[in-house]
Amino acid sequence: MIRSQIVGCGAYLPKRIITNDEMTRIVDTTDEWIVARTGIRQRHIAADGEFTSDLAIEAAERTLASAGVEANEIDLIVLATATPDNTFPATAVKVQARLGITRGAAFDVQAVCSGFVYALAVADNFIRCGQVGTALVIGAETFSRILDWKDRSTCVLFGDGAGAVLLRAVETDVPNGARCVLSTHLHSDGRQHDLLFVDGGPSSTQTVGQLRMSGRDVFRHAVGLLSGAVDEALAANGLSADDIDWLVPHQANKRIIDAMARKLKVSTDKMICTIDRHANTSAASIPLALAEAAGDGRIRPGQLVVIEGMGGGFTWASAAIRW
Ligand code: COA
Repeated sequence: MIRSQIVGCGAYLPKRIITNDEMTRIVDTTDEWIVARTGIRQRHIAADGEFTSDLAIEAAERTLASAGVEANEIDLIVLATATPDNTFPATAVKVQARLGITRGAAFDVQAVCSGFVYALAVADNFIRCGQVGTALVIGAETFSRILDWKDRSTCVLFGDGAGAVLLRAVETDVPNGARCVLSTHLHSDGRQHDLLFVDGGPSSTQTVGQLRMSGRDVFRHAVGLLSGAVDEALAANGLSADDIDWLVPHQANKRIIDAMARKLKVSTDKMICTIDRHANTSAASIPLALAEAAGDGRIRPGQLVVIEGMGGGFTWASAAIRW
């Protein structure tokens, strides 16, 4: 059997940090409100002229360095983003070009905050069916460019960043025992598309548009969908919540993360949380958290890592990984 092993990961955050105190000079808000309602204390914001592809390439290069793999070994790049540099071409092909790769395939996946899990699932399936041997999966966003900086209910929540993992095909007879992506589960339900969306686009308004959200409604759906996706990942592998070494949730809101941990009966000690420093970086949040926790030695080889995300659409997804 062919499975995908994560052989490297890396991330990049733009240098500029905006604290909650600085947000109070932009909109009518307070540090206390933002921390109490979301857990966010600061966010990184891309510089003028710094694009999603710039963040992605930094994360990609760090990922390749961590794996000790040359760029020309990559067969496939799947880049998750809702904030591409341009409507087309895909941001993935810009990354491909800047890595100096002229073979294989590169394309974007758009599932907003679930995007990284979707991209991982796509790359994992390419590897499982033997079509590629090495795949780079990136989540990269510049959400600061699609925020309405006059809307205090949304602009305080998001940040910019990028993270990536490198997958390599491995042969195994016992997939559940091997260090590999054990399973991925993807879902969408377009009926809720107007609870979290961008009010522009090339076909509708010919403008980029800005993010609009019914925060309370999104919150109401999130905990059930996300804990359901984690249960699904565990059941598919004959595992229980006790088997989880690390739960790496999409970082949208600390209250959502804590409520989900309670529902799943997973200790918050087993959760990787970056929301306080990164805010919600959409498709980048999970690989940013993975890179941080693998980099500082919390996530170790052989451990069970479950990732999950939920975003506009709605889309929601999970993956179980033997690290
Ligand atoms: N600072 C101060 N007050 C704010 C504020 C801000 N940044 N944003 C909103 N408020 C106010 C509202 O205007 C409202 O005031 P009112 O009662 O006088 O009308 C009050 O706070 C409560 O607003 P509400 O929207 O009910 O707050 P909430 O407890 O639901 O928290 C969110 C708002 C957005 C933090 C929360 O709903 C949330 O996190 N939802 C999920 C969003 C999410 O994760 N989306 C991404 C999914 S990928």
